[in-house]
Amino acid sequence: FSSFLTDTFNRQHDYLRISITERCNLRCTYCMPEEGVPLSPPSHLLTTPEIAYLSEIFVSQGVTKIRLTGGEPTIRKDIVPLMQQIGSLRPKGLRELCLTTNGIALHRKLDAMAEAGLTGVNLSLDTLDPFQFQIMTRRKGFEAVIRSIDRILEMNRLGASIKLKINCVVMRGVNEREILPFVEMGREKDVEVRFIEYMPFDGNKWSKNKMLSYKEMLNLIREKYPGLEKVRDSRNDTSKTYRVPGFRGRVGFITSMTHNFCGTCNRLRITSDGNLKVCLFGNAEVSLRDLLRKGNGGLPIEDKEAMEALKQVEMDRRQILPGNEPAHPLEYRERERELLEV
Ligand code: GTP
Ligand code: 5AD
Ligand code: SF4
Repeated sequence: FSSFLTDTFNRQHDYLRISITERCNLRCTYCMPEEGVPLSPPSHLLTTPEIAYLSEIFVSQGVTKIRLTGGEPTIRKDIVPLMQQIGSLRPKGLRELCLTTNGIALHRKLDAMAEAGLTGVNLSLDTLDPFQFQIMTRRKGFEAVIRSIDRILEMNRLGASIKLKINCVVMRGVNEREILPFVEMGREKDVEVRFIEYMPFDGNKWSKNKMLSYKEMLNLIREKYPGLEKVRDSRNDTSKTYRVPGFRGRVGFITSMTHNFCGTCNRLRITSDGNLKVCLFGNAEVSLRDLLRKGNGGLPIEDKEAMEALKQVEMDRRQILPGNEPAHPLEYRERERELLEV
């Protein structure tokens, strides 16, 4: 790793998340207001050739995993050709090509995506009740999401290997009764269900008492499944993984609020309007779009100015929510040991 993708904590940033649209076809109450989010003028958004080109540069610099996110990435019209272009970077070092999606428009495109090299889907689903789905997302579409889940599992049975995770944001008084049914899903289905601590975002009316902490969720699950046991997490996982003996699936927790994972964070992000940042809660951003569109030279990695700008962002020290200070990697490892013992 000689590139700009290593920071002062020796964290190697080899996981790139690219937001390919700001738009979404749902309006989850914890994420967006009914009217949606303000959209950038189209000329500010990265084009498909620009996204493909940036992917290539980052892979050449050591990125091994790319995740497409949004908004809702599947509503970008040319997502399949884009995936084909990114998928073709495998011989250059790309190992994983993943998608975070709400699953509504996914099932129709899954076969083509698998063909393009899709290796993982993180699918957001907060309830197993169609009526509750409509309340939480302010839209219909539950059946389409289930169709996407079933299709992925079926494709895997037929030989594909698309790692499926379900992301479930848990809110007290809204869907905490769904935790056990979601765990139960893993009895027969090979999926990892990850319960996410509810986080405050601009205007989502977050309050502490609406958040269920990791420990609380864990205790609730243990009452019904006392055999629940810890599984070792891989190095850069944001989630803490468990299994119920005998179940095919797994259970995970994304503890953004109570245990930060900054110490081992390996993520880079590109926003849909082309800014590079490292941290979800960070400040430093650099416009790759402007670098790309400056003159006609693109973003040659020999360009000193471009590299300097990237390095600046790379150094942006992880910040996290107030009261939850960034952890030093060593401190993190100690915490990890504690967690293995819970
Ligand atoms: P994999 O580890 O590849 O499975 O994906 P992921 O968990 O990084 O991605 P996903 O898009 O499924 O995001 C899951 C949750 O993690 C979401 O609730 C995000 O808000 C949260 N998240 C993603 N990246 C970060 C991060 O850098 N910092 C924090 N605090 N939370 C993050
Ligand atoms: N708190 C926790 N997770 C959230 N997500 C969106 N908003 C929030 C929030 N306020 C989750 C989505 C999706 C993932 C990318 O982020 O449910 O699964
Ligand atoms: Fe937000 Fe995702 Fe829900 Fe769309 S599906 S409103 S992006 S959480």
